[in-house]
Amino acid sequence: MSELPSIADREGERLQKVLARVGVGSRRVVEDLIAAGRISVNGEIAILGARVQVDHDVVEVDGTQLSLKADAVTYLLNKPRGVITTASDPQGRPTVVEIVPDEPRVYPVGRLDLDTEGLLLLTNDGAMAHRLTHPSFAIEKEYLAHVEGIPSRASLRQLREGIELDDGLTAPAAAATVGPGLIRLTIHEGRNRQVRRMCEAVGHPVRRLVRTRIGPLMDQRLKPGEFRRLTTEEVLE
Ligand code: URA
Repeated sequence: MSELPSIADREGERLQKVLARVGVGSRRVVEDLIAAGRISVNGEIAILGARVQVDHDVVEVDGTQLSLKADAVTYLLNKPRGVITTASDPQGRPTVVEIVPDEPRVYPVGRLDLDTEGLLLLTNDGAMAHRLTHPSFAIEKEYLAHVEGIPSRASLRQLREGIELDDGLTAPAAAATVGPGLIRLTIHEGRNRQVRRMCEAVGHPVRRLVRTRIGPLMDQRLKPGEFRRLTTEEVLE
């Protein structure tokens, strides 16, 4: 009777080596994570010595899927006003992908309007893009909206509780005044021009809109037009 190959006999690279290479931590840290049962391969808790095939296997750290591709990259860009969120624009306007390196090719995650500034992610990591955009993950996005007029407490309450837009009621949001005519609004939906339409609906059209946070990601040091690569810790957050 032939014996089934043990997990350590599978073809592929050693899990510890792969995890260390993609930046999860030193060999020692990675071994501790495996021993603590925090790493899974294809849905099963991994053991030390397991082998993985980077093209097929799904490896997760605390339930977050990791991209094992050597060239997986995610950039955090501070999008300037007047730059379009697309991979190519038939009208020849400047695009966000032209700001970051050409190779490996990356794509914007979600979109900011032409006139909106602030944080935008670009990635070639499909799992990462899915986590950030799928409504089931309800990732928070925080905006600073410079609006016309001084919003009343009643307007802020309306923004928080939900507003009937032409594509339906908005989900509960966080809204606070942080200066004269300056609202900090946190939403987790991603409807077209949502913040502008919400503010307009309560009588305060937006003059300037800046996205200041995506989930846990903030960066006050990035100037408009600047970008940086996300660290592995940030990718796993
Ligand atoms: N809401 C808007 O109105 N515009 C954006 O670019 C993003 C959110």
